[in-house]
Formats: sequence, C-alpha cells, structure tokens
Amino acid sequence: MAFNPKHILGIKDLSAEDINFILDTAAGFKEINTREIKKVPTLRGKTIINLFFEASTRTRTSFEIAGKRLSADTVNISASGSSVVKGETLEDTAKNIEAMHPDIIVMRHSASGACDYLAERLDCSVVNAGDGMHEHPSQALLDAFTIREHKGSIAGLTVAIVGDITHSRVVRSNIYCLNKLGAKVRIAGPATMLPPGIERLGCTVHTRLEDAIRDANVVMMLRIQRERMGATLIPTVREYARYYGLNGNKLELAKSDAIVMHPGPINRGVELSTAIADGPQNVILDQVENGVAVRMALLYLVAGGEKLKTE
Ligand code: CP
Repeated sequence: MAFNPKHILGIKDLSAEDINFILDTAAGFKEINTREIKKVPTLRGKTIINLFFEASTRTRTSFEIAGKRLSADTVNISASGSSVVKGETLEDTAKNIEAMHPDIIVMRHSASGACDYLAERLDCSVVNAGDGMHEHPSQALLDAFTIREHKGSIAGLTVAIVGDITHSRVVRSNIYCLNKLGAKVRIAGPATMLPPGIERLGCTVHTRLEDAIRDANVVMMLRIQRERMGATLIPTVREYARYYGLNGNKLELAKSDAIVMHPGPINRGVELSTAIADGPQNVILDQVENGVAVRMALLYLVAGGEKLKTE
C-alpha cells in the first residue's frame, strides 16, 4: 500500500494503515541521522517553507533538519520577522509565499484550523506543525514511533496523559492516533483543564493523576500552557505540582517498566520532578530524536514518496 497524501493536517482523518505506513517509512529514514554524512538526495530540487507564527524549538528545528537531510531547500519564516507584524493577513502571506513556488509549507499557528484554511486556498502541500488547540500530528506520530520502539507494539497498551488537556493539541492528536493503533487512553487533569465531551474522542477521564497512571504502560505528561489560558485555571503552580506533578512515588503506581514521555518544553518541578525528568524511565530525548525521522517521512510522503524515484 502506498500513502501519498497531499497534506498532513491532522491524525483524525488518517487510518491505522496510513499511520503504520508513516511509522514504517520513518523507521527506514532513522538510520540516516546517525551516519557521518547525514544527507540523501531524495528531495533534491524541492523547496520547503517553515512558516512558524508561534514559538518552537523542537518542531521547527526538526522539520528544518528533516528537509535538509533529504536535500530539500528549506526556508524559515517566523511571525516576528515577517510582514505579519505590518498587518498582512495569513491568506495574503501564504499566497505571496506560494508565488515563489514552494512544494511544501510547514505551518504552526495559534488559530485552530489555520492549516486546513491554508490547504483549501493553496496549491502546494501543507503540513500542520501545530494549530491552536486543534492538532499536532507530527508530535503524535513521533510519540507513537517512540512507544512502538520501546514496547514493540501499541495495541493493548494503556497510555495515561496528564496535564492541561483543554489547551493541548498534542493530547487530541494522541487520542486519535493511539485509539487507531489499539491502545487504551486515560486522561487526567484538574477539572478546570478537562474540556467537556473529551471522552467522546476515545478516552476515560480522571481528575486524580493516581487513577490515570495506575498500571499504565506509558505515562505522558503535558505542560501547563499559560500562554493559552485566559482566566487562571489553577490556584497556584505549587498546588498543581503537588496534585498533578509526577514524582517517583506516583510513578510506582504505573507498570514497573512504564516509560515516561513529554512533548517538551518541560517545566521542571511542575509536571515532572527533576528525578523523573532525568531518570531511567524517561524517553523524552528519544522522542526528540525520532521527531527528525518522522518529519523526514512526512515530507517525503507529501512530496510524492515512491513516485519521486521515477520522476
Ligand atoms: N513539542 C513541541 O511542539 O515542541 P516545540 O514547541 O519546541 O516545537
């Protein structure tokens, strides 16, 4: 089966076969990243624009590295360095960029649905690098890749996701992805950070961290997204850390071989104690490493995949 989507906008519309195809493609690319010469000619002649309207360390850097390792020409544009600060609209910005004939635009934006909006209006491919509180598909795929690497397969696992669920695009993409791959998903957070109806996406909902992580195979901790909070949703960060931060005692409730994940950036001492953030069960830097291979796979597949070899 070949999978060559025009765009990658979210996990919701992908099938389990599509997801496994992406993960298998990423597995093929991973080895390139440890070679002495980390470059293959696969996307030579392709132009990729990374259009980031929100801050990013991991996603922007790894999409850029992924493109460069596949020999594409990559250009980075941030909101602060673009004419957005002069009042240009998203559509005008994107249309002007498209006039320069890029093959792929990778975009992060604070508005949920911004990537779908662009995809409907542009001829080039659009890859969602995180849109508001909607989806972060490449994060969920690198998370699935990392779980599969550590656990062998995802079907039958119990994955607990804890933190600011309301504001998290990572949790939405992960619920879709993990359900499609056969995992059971539990989410936990303060009631003020649990959006009504989230269980309809395919998860059980808990207000106590302990209930979510008991016997879990994977514990995924999320950051409090202060930049997206309007009113204060927690009394104090200290109190949040006491009830929803992961430390050694709480992690003992999970399976003894449970892995601890976090999409980053970490607030040390808030959602993770330093002992856990640096401890033997954490796979956080594996997630970052795998992000490059997964993003190589996404760029390759939207650019045409196998068809590239015959062009
Ligand atoms: N996980 C993630 O999206 O990190 P960045 O915000 O640094 O890209």
